Amino acid sequence: NGDVSSRIDYVFKVVLIGDSAVGKSQILSRFARNEFSLDSKATIGVEFQTRTLVIEHKSIKAQIWDTAGQERYRAVTSAYYRGAVGAMLVYDITRRQSFDHIPRWLEELRSHADKNIVIMLVGNKTDLEKQRAVSTEDAKEFAEKEGLFFLETSALNASNVESAFFTVLTEIF
Ligand code: GTP
Ligand code: MG
Repeated sequence: NGDVSSRIDYVFKVVLIGDSAVGKSQILSRFARNEFSLDSKATIGVEFQTRTLVIEHKSIKAQIWDTAGQERYRAVTSAYYRGAVGAMLVYDITRRQSFDHIPRWLEELRSHADKNIVIMLVGNKTDLEKQRAVSTEDAKEFAEKEGLFFLETSALNASNVESAFFTVLTEIF
């Protein structure tokens, strides 16, 4: 996990998608800057952040794109997915609806992205275990059926955020 800034061997674009307020921007902020904010504002348009890391002796610049979950604030779909080699499909474990919408996000992803894109299903906000509304088993089953990687994360306490990105980046690589 050494961060370097000099020589870059690969640049990998990874996109974040999922309903509004599931925590996409905070997952990104945790991964890119190790920061978290409880009063995060809804994303408007597209933002991206990068982090350079070393995997198998190669330095990889991960360029992580983040857009709005809210339809009216979303960026042009085709441009967002263009060139993406990885995707994080995020839902909130405390909000069933955000999980029920995953098939729609997956459909959009599959119709716009490269067919070899590596996809990770991410159940975020595990720090709110008492409010859980989506069981780990249900999500795991869905992920297996659809051929997705799956992890539960917390951007708040940093649980599994690194693992989620490293799994996707290692698989791309
Ligand atoms: P849009 O930009 O509208 O698509 O939303 P988003 O998916 O980017 O959500 P965002 O990251 O802005 O987070 C929404 C709210 O959830 C904010 O209040 C965050 O602080 C909070 N949040 C994000 N991740 C976590 C988490 O892991 N745990 C808890 N408890 N709250 C979180
Ligand atoms: Mg956002």
